[in-house]
Amino acid sequence: MKKEDVNKECQQIWEDLGPWWDASVEDGDYFHRAFVFPNIEKLLDLRGGELILDAGCGNGALSRYMTKKGAEVFGVDFSSSLIKQAEERSQGIQYEKMDLTDGAKLRKLAQFKTFDRVVCSMVLHDMSNICPFFESLQFLMKPKGYFVFSIPHPCFNSPFVLFEPQGCLTVKNYIHMETSKLLSKPGQPIEQLVFHRPIQEYFNLLIAQGMIMTGFEEPCVDPKMLPEKSLWAQRPEIPPALISRWVFPSQFL
Ligand SMILES: C[S@@+](CC[C@H](N)C(=O)[O-])C[C@H]1O[C@@H](n2cnc3c(N)ncnc32)[C@H](O)[C@@H]1O
Repeated sequence: MKKEDVNKECQQIWEDLGPWWDASVEDGDYFHRAFVFPNIEKLLDLRGGELILDAGCGNGALSRYMTKKGAEVFGVDFSSSLIKQAEERSQGIQYEKMDLTDGAKLRKLAQFKTFDRVVCSMVLHDMSNICPFFESLQFLMKPKGYFVFSIPHPCFNSPFVLFEPQGCLTVKNYIHMETSKLLSKPGQPIEQLVFHRPIQEYFNLLIAQGMIMTGFEEPCVDPKMLPEKSLWAQRPEIPPALISRWVFPSQFL
């Protein structure tokens, strides 16, 4: 299948998943609230009044969280159903439908708006092509801006990890990029496309843009916060996600 067709299929899936995703996440599910949002907040290092691009904002749960911390947020997503849900749930946040694989659109946005922070939470593994977005960061970010992203941990939380008894994991594939179709949440009505990449793929693409990493978190779950039988409650020493912060170092000299 051609790259554009894969992306179209992805977009249609998120269009159809929108209402269910919104009802299931609302203002953040356990994973958002317990460790994704707080660690993103830590790495964003907000002082108040920053303009933030929430890239792949979904129903705007993180956008609303960051607004409560004093930031001004602009959210984009390629699913019009999720943009609609985000608008219905939010006040004072601007949202726009935008495909993060479309480099020309991202550069056009950068002609009108640049951002103190660009955040992309739990989106990159859902994108068929991350290069145009990474290549656009230099235009989207204001001088001394930060780029913060979170992804399911590619080592421990991928379609190629088997959850064995007694809290063990078996990793079947790590180093190769692979596309899978799966249900990522209990009760999810439609399978989504997921693009597994090893960590080096993310980091080397950002390094090739001239960026360096200045923050890295691998948060684990608090088993008390999850049902006892939950797979992650039985693995409190294994991080389901990683979160990192990137800058253009030449701007800090
Ligand atoms: C797992 S959800 C995460 C949503 C939100 N960031 C959160 O943490 O709740 C992935 C989101 O990425 C969006 N997405 C995936 N590929 C995209 C693309 N190429 N351009 C824009 N949004 C995209 C989907 O529509 C969906 O809202």
